[in-house]
Amino acid sequence: MPIVLVGPMGAGKSRVGHRLAESVGAPFIDTDLRIIERYGPIEEIFEREGEEYFRIVEREVVAEALREEAVISLGGGAVLHADTRDDLAGLPVVWLKVSASAVAPRLVGGNRPLLADGGIERWSAILAQRRPVYEAVAKYSIDTSRRSVARIVDDITGHF
Ligand code: S3P
Repeated sequence: MPIVLVGPMGAGKSRVGHRLAESVGAPFIDTDLRIIERYGPIEEIFEREGEEYFRIVEREVVAEALREEAVISLGGGAVLHADTRDDLAGLPVVWLKVSASAVAPRLVGGNRPLLADGGIERWSAILAQRRPVYEAVAKYSIDTSRRSVARIVDDITGHF
């Protein structure tokens, strides 16, 4: 059964996912990286084809990943797709939380098209919209703001 990490941009899904996968001896899949491998840089997909197309591509990659025995980090907006929310029912889904003040430095210089013009205020507005969705799909949540990756991994492995 996969272990799935959800949460907003900059919450630490990739960093934590890597170490969690090592810790449980499973492969790690970052759905953003799979999209990049197959379709090119995310900002170019947004620019050329738009967000709607990105969500279609993302859904395909997510559906495939969720069939694997792996630790899977989902892009922050993947839970917007109803089929993905259905797929997550019954799986161990962890919501990585983070405060705006802790996330701000992590977002500097990132290639995130949704934050291209808006920065931390845009990030906060997006989170406000998605929070109920993360809440609904997650079986467990942990705040990554002031915790080391090792501590977060221990916490997750101790829970499931
Ligand atoms: C997005 C989050 C990004 C990436 C894309 C859109 C979002 O992934 O999928 O830029 O809608 O929140 P991360 O959450 O890994 O940054």
